[in-house]
This record gives sequence, C-alpha cells and structure tokens, in this order.
Amino acid sequence: METKSTTPADITAAALDSFEGCADERLREIMQALIRHIHGLITEVDLTEEEWRAAIAVLTDTGHITDERRQEWILWSDTLAVSMLVDAIRHRLPEGATESTVLGPFHVAESPLRAYGDHLDEVPAGAAAWVYGQVRSLDGTPIEGAELDVWQNGDNELYAVQDPDAPEFHLRGRFHTDADGRYGFVAVRPTPYPIPHDGPVGKMLAATGRHPWRPAHIHMIVRAPGHRSLTTHVFDGTSEYLDSDAVFAVKPSLLRDFVRRDADDPDRPEGISGEWYSLESDFVLVPGEGGEPQDPGRTA
Ligand code: BEZ
Ligand code: FE
Repeated sequence: METKSTTPADITAAALDSFEGCADERLREIMQALIRHIHGLITEVDLTEEEWRAAIAVLTDTGHITDERRQEWILWSDTLAVSMLVDAIRHRLPEGATESTVLGPFHVAESPLRAYGDHLDEVPAGAAAWVYGQVRSLDGTPIEGAELDVWQNGDNELYAVQDPDAPEFHLRGRFHTDADGRYGFVAVRPTPYPIPHDGPVGKMLAATGRHPWRPAHIHMIVRAPGHRSLTTHVFDGTSEYLDSDAVFAVKPSLLRDFVRRDADDPDRPEGISGEWYSLESDFVLVPGEGGEPQDPGRTA
C-alpha cells in the first residue's frame, strides 16, 4: 500500500481533492473555497481541541435555538457582517438609486393596506412622526402606485411580532403612492433597540465586548411594477449607535432628519396631539425586475 504523508498541508490538499469530481462547477468552487478558508483559519490560529469542541457546541446551540420563529443562523450572518457583504456584492446600484440594507428578522408578509395619512401605530408607541416623500424611477419620473411595505419598533424597543401584548398589525402596514408618486403616513419616532441577545450570538457579543444595539430606524420594502424591489431602512441621523450598529447596516445615504414640530404647527396631520416630528424621505428605484427579499425566518 502506498503510504500517504499526513502533514497539515497534505490534509488540506486531500480535502480539496475530494471535491474534484463534483459535477456542479459552482458547488465545487464554493466547497473548495470553504475548505481553503476553514483550514486556513485553523492553521493560522493554531486551533486547540478545546476550542474546536467549543465551536461545535456553539453550532449545536445555534441549531437548537432556531425554529420557525427564531433564526439564530441569520443573526450570526448579520452580526458577522456577512448579510451586508452579500448585499453589497449583489446590489451594486447605479448612481442616484436609493441604497439597500438588511431585511432583518421582523418583517411579516401581508401587512394591512393602509390609506395615505393613516397611522402605523394601533396602540400608543411613542412620539408621532409624519413620514412622507416621493418614489421615483432612476430617470426622475414619479412612480404612481408604488408600494411601501413598512415596519418599525415602538418605544418599548419591540416589534409587534416580539410583543405578545401588541395587536397583530401594530406598527406595520403597506401604503401606495398617488399620481405624483407621493406617499405619507403617521409612524412613531423609532428608538434604538437590542437585537435578540439571549442565545449563542448574544454570548459571542458579550464575550467579545460588543453590544447588541441597533440605531433607531424604520424598515421599508419599496416595490413598483417594472422596477427592482428595494429593501432598506431610513435611520434617525441623530441616533445613538450609528457608528456601531450590531449588524453593520448603516449607510450614510440612508440617514434622515426627524424635524421637531410644535403642537400648533398648521401642517399637523390628523389624529396627532402635542409635539410631533416630520421625516422626509424620497426613494429612487432601478428599472428592472426581481430584488424581492426571500424571508429567511424570524428572530422573535
Ligand atoms: C432589524 O433591524 O430588525 C434587525 C436586523 C438584523 C438583526 C436583527 C434585527
Ligand atoms: Fe429593525
């Protein structure tokens, strides 16, 4: 029998070689790159057996905590900036288009269709904010009938899907643009909130001295016929944590001003009393198709 040498480099070479017969070229490329990088990591840090066992335990715990509501794998992807890297590689947008960012785990499909000027909050959830603007195509043409699918957290730091006491449709809704491409709705001023950190990802954040907080934002998916769907947020440009978002999702072009308005401001929308805010945000979509996010599951 031919004796094979078994140095670390031989072991890596054997693992790479084992995929040579893979008929799916793309799968072969990915599997071989995976081997190169995992083996490279282990060799680089001179991994101990104890550390290897700890890594297996983390993966096992991640599998155990994940179910149809809780998606800890995506949370790993988000907190290691993998989600944003895939987004950056796959959504290279032309100049002038509104930038995309992560979907996150709290989007719920088929939110109620609400009319221009309606409220997103169904029970008190913070300071009122009139959110308005225009949806345009890349060439500047206003888009009539574009849909904004909106969801946000309230001042208790929770999305309605995380809050057993919240009405089902609280803080989410879909709005259509008018003939001039304009939309407007009453939201609440969002607050920063921590991503779910009671599982393996939370342990990683604590062990490495990272925090779980996200800066204040409102989520939107903007859809229009003949255009790529856009998954994005608008961020409160004065929020804490803009420089250290736990999921790396902040882009400077998505920062907006919440403008403070007096109770007696003549532009005050219906159903608001006391001091309120306004936030203007236009969205520019790219002609084409696709881009609809595939919901990977929730982390409620
Ligand atoms: C969110 O913004 O809803 C979110 C995004 C990534 C991970 C957790 C939460
Ligand atoms: Fe969020």
